[in-house]
Amino acid sequence: MTDNRPIGVFDSGIGGLTVLREIWEAVPEESTIYFGDNSRSPYGTKSRSTIIRYSLQNMKFLESRDVKMIVVACNTASAYAYEELKARAKVPVVEVVTPGADVACRATKNGKIGIIATKGTISTGVYKKAVEDRAKELGMNNIEIFQQACPLFVSLAEEGWWDTEVTRLTAEEYLKPLKAAGVDTLVMACTHYPLLSKVIKEVMGDGVVLVNTGEATARVVKELLGSEGTASEGNKCPVREFYTSDEPELFEQVAAPFLGEGLPSGTRHFTTDKYEVTV
Ligand code: DGL
Repeated sequence: MTDNRPIGVFDSGIGGLTVLREIWEAVPEESTIYFGDNSRSPYGTKSRSTIIRYSLQNMKFLESRDVKMIVVACNTASAYAYEELKARAKVPVVEVVTPGADVACRATKNGKIGIIATKGTISTGVYKKAVEDRAKELGMNNIEIFQQACPLFVSLAEEGWWDTEVTRLTAEEYLKPLKAAGVDTLVMACTHYPLLSKVIKEVMGDGVVLVNTGEATARVVKELLGSEGTASEGNKCPVREFYTSDEPELFEQVAAPFLGEGLPSGTRHFTTDKYEVTV
């Protein structure tokens, strides 16, 4: 059986493209619909109820496009809204926190794991708990977790300042305590951050493993398509659609250097705030 319906992916802006790219890599025959909520970005500084409402609205939009699965390509939305999304979704929902926690636990040698994320994600404690739970499952009892909110990284990524002096200085300041703590593994627990990974890697140094939660999430997507029997087999022409709640031209300008190959193209404008949801 083959299911050619698309996979729906959403984020507050362009950060989720780091997950989307990994999904394309892992399951190239799948069609995808990406929604970037750029006009309401950032999510990471907003309240719990706002993030839940935005996430439910985004999900309604993707469901209206007949997707077969929804990937919450945003750690902040995953941390705050995953339970609500899962409870109300008509299709399977994949979040990005648990897959990242698993990779971090497997990567660390000295047990010292750093987590960088938005203020929102850090304040939920969801990531820390996910790493602790996974470590317990793997029988590891030497885990120490160091968290750091890096709110300015999202604006730098949205601005396209992926490798500039301002970004480097900002990274040096934010990452100082994690370097001092001697972490050997750093989870980029915000999907925007891999866009800045060159600078983050340079500042942290070669000995530190950077965890991109997108890669791990794409593996989960692949497994789930297999177990649900919804993979799109032999699809030679996957469709890759893009929507943004801000200016399509702006979205494409910032996203293009990252996606390459003339993508994204034909991005359409759509706002999800018209969907009524109760939180
Ligand atoms: N990319 C998102 C995340 O993974 C959200 C960034 C933001 O909008 O603050 O948390």
